[in-house]
Amino acid sequence: MARNLGNFDGQVVLVVGAASGIGRAVARLISSRGGTVVISDLDKTGLASLKEELSLNDNQVKDVNLGDKSSVSNLIVSLISDHSQIDALINTAGIVGPTNTKLEDVDWSAFEKTLSINLFGAIWLTQAVVPFMKDRKYGRIAHVASIAGKEGNPGMHAYNTSKAGLIGFVKGASKEIAADGITINSLAPAVIRTPMNADTNEETLKYMIGRIPMGRVGEPEEVAELLAFMASSACSFTTGFTFDASGGRATY
Ligand SMILES: NC(=O)c1ccc[n+]([C@@H]2O[C@H](COP(=O)([O-])OP(=O)(O)OC[C@H]3O[C@@H](n4cnc5c(N)ncnc54)[C@H](O)[C@@H]3O)[C@@H](O)[C@H]2O)c1
Repeated sequence: MARNLGNFDGQVVLVVGAASGIGRAVARLISSRGGTVVISDLDKTGLASLKEELSLNDNQVKDVNLGDKSSVSNLIVSLISDHSQIDALINTAGIVGPTNTKLEDVDWSAFEKTLSINLFGAIWLTQAVVPFMKDRKYGRIAHVASIAGKEGNPGMHAYNTSKAGLIGFVKGASKEIAADGITINSLAPAVIRTPMNADTNEETLKYMIGRIPMGRVGEPEEVAELLAFMASSACSFTTGFTFDASGGRATY
């Protein structure tokens, strides 16, 4: 009988950004497919409710501040101490940062904060997990970027830069660790129905949906399916790639 490569039995999967939106949906999915999920986020309340929903143990819940390098390394040290292995890292944490900001008016502290969470945090996470994956000659890393990293949105300079940087980082890193049994990919969604868009005004939402040939926003569960594939042993010959979840908006 064919093996089910999408199953996570016996695997430890870290989901960063799990308290909300896409991260929450993928944590649910991995858990339903047999994985030991370790959920992590800055938002402790969101983590607590997901812990209860999925009946997780205490050692499967770990808070982190992705904008702080030592917090990121403490997370991985604690995960390895509790679970001895990490098969996959799925990083969905992120912030939008400043919007509607003219290039001339960019505020550097807000710019740096967005980059440190969306880009540096993703790099610090990758640096921290790779040695453990190399030891076992197996690993899957999936980072959530954005269509903004491919096309750019006016007035969102920090966000665009962070997501384009993430796509570039993943491409280079993939080549370096390809022979170690580790794949690393990113994913570029268009608009997805999550709390991140809760405050987006009707007009902007209409404009964004107008650019999606399917004529609708995506659901977090649809993105979670792709991330679960990227984090599974089935994703064995694809690395350095940017997967698409844009309802047909991106054709490249
Ligand atoms: N929703 C969309 O339309 C959309 C589109 C393209 C890309 N994305 C990307 O998808 C990812 C998930 O977004 P979402 O829509 O689920 O948003 P969300 O706001 O629902 O979830 C983001 C999570 O990241 C966490 N987070 C924020 N700062 C953190 C920090 N410093 N340390 C640790 N965790 C932190 C939040 O607490 C939250 O739980 C993000 O990277 C986002 O940029 C979203």
